[in-house]
Amino acid sequence: MARRKNNAVILAIESSCDDTSAAVMVDGKVRSNEVATQEMHRAYGGVVPELASRVHQENITLVVDVALRNAGVKTEDLNAIAFTRGPGLMGSLLVGISFAKGLSIGLGIPLIEVNHMEAHVLAHFIDLPTPALPFLCLTVSGGHTEIIRVETPLEMTRLGKTLDDAAGEAFDKTGKMLGLEYPAGPIIDRLAQEGAATYTFPKPQVDGLDFSFSGLKTAILYFLRDRVKTSPGFIEENLNDICASVQDTITDILVDKLKQASTETGIREIAIAGGVSANKSLREKVRHSAAKMGWQIHIPKIEYCTDNAAMIAMAGHFKYQAGRFTSLEAVPDVRLGIPGRHLEG
Ligand code: KG4
Ligand code: ZN
Repeated sequence: MARRKNNAVILAIESSCDDTSAAVMVDGKVRSNEVATQEMHRAYGGVVPELASRVHQENITLVVDVALRNAGVKTEDLNAIAFTRGPGLMGSLLVGISFAKGLSIGLGIPLIEVNHMEAHVLAHFIDLPTPALPFLCLTVSGGHTEIIRVETPLEMTRLGKTLDDAAGEAFDKTGKMLGLEYPAGPIIDRLAQEGAATYTFPKPQVDGLDFSFSGLKTAILYFLRDRVKTSPGFIEENLNDICASVQDTITDILVDKLKQASTETGIREIAIAGGVSANKSLREKVRHSAAKMGWQIHIPKIEYCTDNAAMIAMAGHFKYQAGRFTSLEAVPDVRLGIPGRHLEG
């Protein structure tokens, strides 16, 4: 295996869901970050796993090639290959892991497995200023809603998680009820800008730092069904206000728990991550809370919120520095997560 270098050149591959992404990082700095988004899932109202893996297979060589070219890096310059081991869809993960293994064998360089959820958190180390340690990170994506306490880039604990749907799912499922395309999160965000939060929905009462969004989904369903019964054009006529109201409720639930986590832990260094962290209302509420709570906040660039390989490279960089490499026997782990606090010690 290659000797560890200070100015390591790392190729990272992300293929956990429906985005095929490759990035090149040199000495901890992003040189390229290419993402091929799979548009065809829109027609199905959600990600179709079988289709996703086939399209990853079609795209991956080109995406890696463009990432290397845009970084001005040749394969022989690479020192390691980082890949997403999980969580994600089995078929999608297999494409990335197989490609990474092939390249690792061909070039005789080490592999580094990356936990996708840790990578979302570590996206905060891509640009300056990086968060001071320890910090709390609210990670909100299509499949996860978690509050993570970060001790060091290699040491984190989950303080809370969703008991059912993720925040992104709440956006996407509401979108489906409203007749919007998948993924609905960004569409609801845009329509909400033109509306007002005139409708109120119940907020779940969940113990500790855990979340729940399935009750809200049911409340929205019944609300829409009742309104449409008396006024068939209700959704079309009030779409922007409905979007603003749903968004306001989801982001309130998220920020309330984040405040609670900060109060309980005494940590005021606060970050948000994952696809839903691109949401304008969430960003606004976190900024607003910062003044009241004395928070130092870290809000990532939009391209580092949604799935991308730059964050995989960042996580890979830290592991490379620590000499944590992965054997060729590695297999995907669709349920890989960040350990909860009850597993501590
Ligand atoms: O992190 P991500 O790209 O992929 C997963 O790992 O799941 O997150 C995707 C989720 C989707 O549910 C999408 O609707 C949501 O992030 N999302 C948003 C916004 N942009 C993406 N939700 C609300 N507002 C946005 N602007
Ligand atoms: Zn993600």
